Amino acid sequence: MSLVNLLRKHNRKFLFTTPSHGQKFFIFNKFRQFYKYDISETDAHDPQRALSNAQKRASEIYKTNYTYFLSNGSTSGIIASVLACTSKNDKVLICRNAHPCHENAVKLAGCTPVYYDLPVISEWGIPDKTTPDLIDIKGIKAVIVTSPTYEGIVSDIRILKEICKKNKAYLIVDEAHGALYPFSEKLPESAVNIADFTVQSLHKTAGGLNPTALLHVNCNLDAKSALDMINTTSPSYPLLASIEANINFLHSPRGRKHLNNLITTIENIKKDVKNIDFGGDDVTKILIKKDGMTGEELSEVLFNQFNIEDEKTNNISTMLLCGIGTSFAKLKRLKRALLKL
Ligand SMILES: Cc1ncc(COP(=O)(O)O)c(C=O)c1O
Repeated sequence: MSLVNLLRKHNRKFLFTTPSHGQKFFIFNKFRQFYKYDISETDAHDPQRALSNAQKRASEIYKTNYTYFLSNGSTSGIIASVLACTSKNDKVLICRNAHPCHENAVKLAGCTPVYYDLPVISEWGIPDKTTPDLIDIKGIKAVIVTSPTYEGIVSDIRILKEICKKNKAYLIVDEAHGALYPFSEKLPESAVNIADFTVQSLHKTAGGLNPTALLHVNCNLDAKSALDMINTTSPSYPLLASIEANINFLHSPRGRKHLNNLITTIENIKKDVKNIDFGGDDVTKILIKKDGMTGEELSEVLFNQFNIEDEKTNNISTMLLCGIGTSFAKLKRLKRALLKL
């Protein structure tokens, strides 16, 4: 039985189990829907088996050795990956300005961080990709690379994997911002079938609820015991079921078609709007700049005059993040605004 069906069908009548709310909520009526499907491991319909089957089906979709559903974000996936492939006092190579979970993972594993710095793309004011020379260091047990970056700069994961293989280091890719990549050939190649561990946040671009994410494993190590060390023993089954439904949608012909329509619409905006410069490697992250304006000014005009809020801005450029849920009406509004600038 799938996780979604299990939640639909589970018998709520005589459960003397946790959670004791009995799938009802007594305090604030608006939260009733949250409670309706909130069950625990002790439910007679064996949700643990449904979860393990759902993860197995996901690993078939992604063609990985293992795919784990995470209900504590990419953060937990990065920590579990480092715990799974290192021992105390190992050296782990991380980027100095990476998401804090990279350094925290290294500390939690009792390892020593070794840092590399990313160059800045001066025309855009954003960090550049990770190149092989930056990670070609001996005596390192694992390397964590962020690709894509927040702004959509993508590294060549195949080449980075070759370097890691030569140096006998595990490659962990933080693909938190690239969860749509496996579902369209128009997007950059995903790391899920290349890196030893790849972590993706479904909630950032792929339609997932906060903080749903995935950990994909491609090497012969299993991350399950590492995940067991850091995860609660009372996971949220509604969140886990939403991951299953989310992946099934993205993988379906309907999901793929929707994603490709979204990409085509953004590509057309880039073709039609000639008064703005577009950058980045990932079409779903609309990275823009305009002659004569700083990134902050551009961001303010979009906000004050057109009610459009960007995701991230620096003194040169600004980035508008799109995902599977970005409506065509919203993109039309953005195009009109950009044409008026
Ligand atoms: C590059 C990167 N990695 C990891 C994370 C952590 O992801 P999550 O919020 O899913 O735990 C973030 C969150 O912003 C991020 O930007």
